[in-house]
Amino acid sequence: MDILLVLKKGYFYIRAEYPIAVEHIQKALEVCYNLGLCGRNILGTNFNFDIELKKGAGAFVCGEETALIASIEGKRGMPKPRPPFPAEKGLYGSPTCVNNVETFVNIPIIINEGAENFAKLGTEKSGGTKIFSLAGKTKNTGLVEVPLGIPLAKIVYDIGGGALNGRKIKGVQTGGPSGGCIPVEFFNTPVDYETFAELGSIMGSGGMIVIDDTVCIVELARYFTEFVQKESCGKCVPCRIGTKRMLEILEKITKAKAEVEDLTTLEMLGNYIKETSLCGLGQTAPNPVLTTIKYFRDEYIAHIVDKICPAAVCKELIEYYIEPTKCVGCTVCLKNCPVEAIEGKTKQTHKINILKCIKCGICFTLCKYKAITVKQATIYATENKN
Ligand SMILES: Cc1cc2nc3c(=O)[nH]c(=O)nc-3n(C[C@H](O)[C@H](O)[C@H](O)COP(=O)(O)O)c2cc1C
Ligand code: SF4
Ligand code: SF4
Repeated sequence: MDILLVLKKGYFYIRAEYPIAVEHIQKALEVCYNLGLCGRNILGTNFNFDIELKKGAGAFVCGEETALIASIEGKRGMPKPRPPFPAEKGLYGSPTCVNNVETFVNIPIIINEGAENFAKLGTEKSGGTKIFSLAGKTKNTGLVEVPLGIPLAKIVYDIGGGALNGRKIKGVQTGGPSGGCIPVEFFNTPVDYETFAELGSIMGSGGMIVIDDTVCIVELARYFTEFVQKESCGKCVPCRIGTKRMLEILEKITKAKAEVEDLTTLEMLGNYIKETSLCGLGQTAPNPVLTTIKYFRDEYIAHIVDKICPAAVCKELIEYYIEPTKCVGCTVCLKNCPVEAIEGKTKQTHKINILKCIKCGICFTLCKYKAITVKQATIYATENKN
């Protein structure tokens, strides 16, 4: 969510797919107008300021400031080279301030309580507080506001309550799809803009997804790369084609069809895309891949060399198997398998035909006796022995 100030008019730019945010801002605007805090002659003065809510049609790239401005102007949301920066020549050619709502919320505090008081919270360069959207594999999730400089561990363990179901936390993905993955070894480092940048990640709008050992790091990187690749506006070659090539290599890795050299290509491509893309989307798109290769290289090697997915997530590298000692022959899996891959009679041990199984995982989810397990695919296990 961004707010824009242009001459005497401001805009909230919110994706139409976020109806709760739209509803809240609509209500807040109504209240402000009723109290005379917006519109004409604010608080009896001759100062006028209107605020309009503009709904975006759902493009990630429209968060980039020049694309955002184009979208409000009714044009296709595509970034433009800067300079000129919006502060000089922005919406309808006027000087425009593009900031997150959270940033503007800090301004009255700084004015009313003084910059020195504001700076008492946070670090020397990253002052104040920051709101994070804590999600993923912790006991508590939701929006949390913390003073900048707090160690990551405090957010994950003290506020988030630590791992779910006794699992092992591996790291956090910060800054959304174009952020980076910070491993648990760095959880004692302070949460601030500079440290995140040093670690290869970004703070962004405060996304923080906690990852445990049930998450495959390579699949995670593939997932985010697929997202940014689809969201690339296509204006410049490094982002449009480079992210596509990165995605192809990641798909090869998750299917155990890659070579170790592919990792070098991924890193090289990622660095080129970062350096040569026109806008922030392309400049940050390789972050998930580059940080995971840097911090979780062993997981990439496991997929490429050992043909194993340590988290047992990548479909091509796993097999579903019914543990005969646990199966009671309840037939639930057999009745729900979409491709009739399960054989067995009532009250007798069932068996999965791996040649028919499409690895949808339905049986695994439904079996209340926990008789269905995931194991390394036999084809690769055999290959590795030879
Ligand atoms: C691809 C892309 C998506 C973005 N999405 C958002 C967003 O959803 N919300 C946001 O506040 N800023 C987003 N930004 C950053 C904004 O363009 C802008 O830099 C930011 O809102 C500046 O405000 P701040 O300095 O107050 O954070 C995005 C940037 C890029 C490149
Ligand atoms: S970096 Fe990507 S999103 Fe940005 S202008 Fe180039 S193609 Fe478009
Ligand atoms: S994983 Fe899906 S396709 Fe395979 S046996 Fe189970 S239910 Fe059937």
